[in-house]
Amino acid sequence: MKKEDGATIEKIVSLCKRRGFIFPGSEIYGGLANSFDYGPMGVELKNNIKNAWWKRFVHMRDDMVGIDAALIMNPKVWKSSGHLATFSDPLVECKKCHHRFRADKIESKKCPDCGGEFTQAKQFNLMLKTFLGPVENEESTVYFRPETAQAMFVDFKNVLETSRKKIPFGIAQIGKAFRNEITPGNFIFRTREFEQMEIEYFIKEEDWKTVFEMWRKEMWSWMTDNLGLDKKNIHELDVPKDELAHYSKKTIDFEYDFPFGKDELYGLAYRTDFDLKNHFKEPPYEDIEVKEKFYPHVIEPTWGLDRSVLAVLCEAYKEEAERVVLKLPAKLAPYKVAVFPLLKNKPELVKKAKEVYDLLKKEFTVAFDERGNIGKRYYSQDEIGTPFCVTIDFDTLEKDDVTIRDRDTTKQERVKISDLVKKISESLNA
Ligand code: GAP
Repeated sequence: MKKEDGATIEKIVSLCKRRGFIFPGSEIYGGLANSFDYGPMGVELKNNIKNAWWKRFVHMRDDMVGIDAALIMNPKVWKSSGHLATFSDPLVECKKCHHRFRADKIESKKCPDCGGEFTQAKQFNLMLKTFLGPVENEESTVYFRPETAQAMFVDFKNVLETSRKKIPFGIAQIGKAFRNEITPGNFIFRTREFEQMEIEYFIKEEDWKTVFEMWRKEMWSWMTDNLGLDKKNIHELDVPKDELAHYSKKTIDFEYDFPFGKDELYGLAYRTDFDLKNHFKEPPYEDIEVKEKFYPHVIEPTWGLDRSVLAVLCEAYKEEAERVVLKLPAKLAPYKVAVFPLLKNKPELVKKAKEVYDLLKKEFTVAFDERGNIGKRYYSQDEIGTPFCVTIDFDTLEKDDVTIRDRDTTKQERVKISDLVKKISESLNA
């Protein structure tokens, strides 16, 4: 599938590799089963998304605290949470070539690789196993967490006692999760190692509908205001009852029009008191005023970080007559500004450009480029989404002003060096 302005998944993959956003993992050894590494540009973009999320949902709110928990938890966690028993996908195997597929995702009744017959579907557990310590046996078997969420439940009392929060309040976490997916694919859309940004929001049972609505609005606002996604590319799916996760009473999926089709970006679930009841024998919360102990209920908004990166890249990618440009929201751009001396072989221009570079570096992430002609340098920055390019020319030496070029309009204006930081900051905060 192709978007009207040219973003195919092949083009996104190619740009990511070429410009240092995302590479195939362990590439020199032939890669490893759809794993990916974020390169110099990708890590900046990903960190900018994480930081925007943490600022918006943790720092700017009085009803939220954060944690950063271990990736490997006591296996009893996964027994209590129901993951060991039920966190599985239906798997079919081709009787001829023995390739395996997810039964609920495959459209044809025959193997797409060789046309062979499938076996009956059986449930395949997605937990990724390893051993802790020097002995490899059942007792030392542990699992990498398949969601960050469980740590927020298991740590609930510790967080409560140390933060003195009263419900309604939430616990947030950003971190890696692992799933032994049957068929990873579509670039970073479905991988076996990925990152989540999750909130478990603790409430009284009677408030669940109101709070669910509050988070639904917050998630929409995040997607449009922070990530710059167009509303028309986002769709809500009310997950049918028979497809709900084992812990959920109601889930909305937010789907995005990726170039390979509409698919899940984020989820919002009402987890009831399922998790806290499974982990705590006694109610872990007391309403001091009425001296009543109870199990809080939970609304869980969850965001896949890698899918956020992918959606942002797909939305921002534009092909214009003479250039490919990533129209990233300025706050998410890896570099906020690039500095160029007009000519590489004029030491006085290079020296002045370095001074401007050092000045801007104190405030922003800045690129410095002196190679080739200016037009090529502009296009090179457009392709990685740098909102501003600043050129130092002979007039700069006389008047202490520079040309600043806007990525989206390509318009240029002269600005005094002393006004540059203010001008760029204003645009970033607009
Ligand atoms: N704690 C709830 C939970 O984990 P989920 O819908 O299974 O719910 C949440 O996962 C989000 O994590 C998804 O909406 C998606 O963005 C992301 N996600 C899930 N599986 C993924 C995978 N294999 N690769 C990349 N992202 C994934």
